Amino acid sequence: MKKPLNINSDNPMESVDDWEDDLLVRYPDASETKKEKEAFRNYIDSERLDTVKEFYRLNHTYQTYDFVCSKEEEYLKFDKKEMSIWEAVDFLNTLVDDSDPDIDLDQLQHLLQTSEAIRADGHPDWFVITGFIHDLGKILCLFGEPQWAVVGDTFPVGCAFSDKIVYSEFFKENPDYTDERFNTKYGIYKPNCGLDNVKMSWGHDEYLYQIFKDFLPDPALYIIRYHSFYSQHRENDYTHLMNEKDIEMFEWVKKFNPYDLYSKAPVPPDAKALLPYYKELVAKFFPEKLNF
Ligand SMILES: [Fe+2]
Ligand SMILES: [Fe+2]
Repeated sequence: MKKPLNINSDNPMESVDDWEDDLLVRYPDASETKKEKEAFRNYIDSERLDTVKEFYRLNHTYQTYDFVCSKEEEYLKFDKKEMSIWEAVDFLNTLVDDSDPDIDLDQLQHLLQTSEAIRADGHPDWFVITGFIHDLGKILCLFGEPQWAVVGDTFPVGCAFSDKIVYSEFFKENPDYTDERFNTKYGIYKPNCGLDNVKMSWGHDEYLYQIFKDFLPDPALYIIRYHSFYSQHRENDYTHLMNEKDIEMFEWVKKFNPYDLYSKAPVPPDAKALLPYYKELVAKFFPEKLNF
């Protein structure tokens, strides 16, 4: 029997991963059969889609330029917790959803499925480790951040919101929508100024990028920082803010996306058996402790 939804006004979704299931409805796996797609649509019932919609209403209403600045000030001091990568993985795994435990895998499983699918395709080890750590920023939930400030599609703030962003009609409620500094195509930015000069909506992507930026090669950092930037990596609607390096690096972001979305293996990876390989990989790239 289905458990009643534990909705509160800030956290409408039963699980932070519900928005990712919604992504699969928006961007279905091209290799799936019609039957598989239909089965998935039925699994994502309308009640859950409604909570995702409410989640996006909050996200689009409250992710303002000033909100992003305030979160940067709060989190980019990295004074919340000192942890090794493994402690961060364990910490993230304490984020237990209310949703059906038979269907939903824990956070470690999503990380391992992503990284194992990358490894199986023979990609270099920096790509594998990126798959393994890419969602660690979701620990923001455990620091008390609401769902709409942790997950969901990310997008630039400080300039007009693209109508290619899911549920873009909700941006009408965002104060920046009518703010003349921010509501033109370029807003506070210059043409092709480069994404490094563009503030993105606050969430697990930017947060983790800021923690890892000294430890991984550029393509990995782009993947971490922009993997939820669907209005660019799927819809190409912010190219006018990108420089040549961004465009080159987004090839990696695009390459990563199917591993993030479609790597749910029928048999969950055996975390215990894989541990020695990942221990070595983590030690190769990261120091013993990191500041979160
Ligand atoms: Fe993510
Ligand atoms: Fe992910």
